[in-house]
Amino acid sequence: MAINLTESQSALLKGEKGETLAKVMKTLVMYGEAFGAEKMVPITGGRGHLVTSFGLGVMKPVFSLLDGIIAEGALAGQKFTVDPRPLDPNVPANFLQKLFFKVMYSKQEYYEDQLRKLGLVNDDGFTCTCYMSQVGNIPGKGDVLSWAESSAVVYANSVLGARCNRNSGIIELFGSIAGCVPYFGLLTDEGRKATWVVEIKTTKKPEAQLLGSAIGMKVMEDVPWIRGLDAWLGTNLDDAAADYLKDMGAATASNGAVGLYHVENLTPEAKEQGDALIAPGAGTYVIDDAELARVKAGYPCIWKDPGAEPKLCFVGCPHLSLNQLRSWTAALLDALKTAGRTKIAIPVVFTAAPAVAAEFRKSPDFEALKKTGVVVSSICPLMYMNNPLCGKMPVITNSNKLRTYTSSRYYTDDEILKKIAGAAK
Ligand code: F3S
Repeated sequence: MAINLTESQSALLKGEKGETLAKVMKTLVMYGEAFGAEKMVPITGGRGHLVTSFGLGVMKPVFSLLDGIIAEGALAGQKFTVDPRPLDPNVPANFLQKLFFKVMYSKQEYYEDQLRKLGLVNDDGFTCTCYMSQVGNIPGKGDVLSWAESSAVVYANSVLGARCNRNSGIIELFGSIAGCVPYFGLLTDEGRKATWVVEIKTTKKPEAQLLGSAIGMKVMEDVPWIRGLDAWLGTNLDDAAADYLKDMGAATASNGAVGLYHVENLTPEAKEQGDALIAPGAGTYVIDDAELARVKAGYPCIWKDPGAEPKLCFVGCPHLSLNQLRSWTAALLDALKTAGRTKIAIPVVFTAAPAVAAEFRKSPDFEALKKTGVVVSSICPLMYMNNPLCGKMPVITNSNKLRTYTSSRYYTDDEILKKIAGAAK
């Protein structure tokens, strides 16, 4: 093996702690070698986070692999959170769709039982925004992680200053089990340098999800340095800025494959190192109002009937923060008042982490929202949509990630508000 291992890592590879751990280590080493890693580094701080949250009946090899790991006691060294569940009986679905979910996710309970045995933090640990304070899986600056969920990886790298590659599902579990990951890419100082300078020259605060989409589609897997966004977000990484960056980052990671971005004067490494973080010869991409309009106009509508009335709306992919739940509630109540209505015009689901939703449910805001007909759920809208029955439904969303992976149609926050409040046709 070309990769340098410590004594304890070599022992794992030689099978001194069992055959399963040896296979886990071998997979990680091969993964590292494919990317030119010279060593494995320990995972530090925080907790693990797994991307695979769904018990699809067809995932038999995964279930038997996990059974083997559990039987040998090769459990994750760290406790972990997991992406959102694919099911919630409170989310509107017709009889056929419910039946389909039952068959499709027939192994959900079995899989969740495996996760508990492997090290799941608790039954509420299912969210892609595990870094919310109510959830508590918050890596520190410089922590080395083994995560795969693209929206969480880009947030941890960019907003929290942790270090994590865009790993795949299962590989990230293997990292948690072995306690180490190959050292390459976004784990290295060199790999964290920006190879693009994105200049924001808009006349108003850009829609986070549109801006992220534009950046992602231009730079793909490269690291962008975003200049001019501090004019709209300020230079203090407060809750509002973090929420904005959460949504923007998820769009960069799904419309492209960004794992890290720096925002001049705002994100931790950009503040610390300044433009020394920009690699020589970095490309330039200017984003103005016209560029954002061009990007939005380029989104295809793949509904069978592009003129169909929406049947469902998802807001919260990635999951909403508590502040976002509150501000969406206030904005919706205002929009309904303006439209002269008390109830939403189409079924709407706001999604948030179970612990965030639980806190929100204690507030008067929740009671007011409930009266409008909005459902608050902790489901993953993508898991809900990714089947032939739901895929045919005309679903609208403000999430550029959901638009990218499903047949749902993207609208800006203001457009969504008007549609769900029955103010726009
Ligand atoms: Fe989260 Fe599911 Fe969207 S994991 S980012 S809610 S696709």
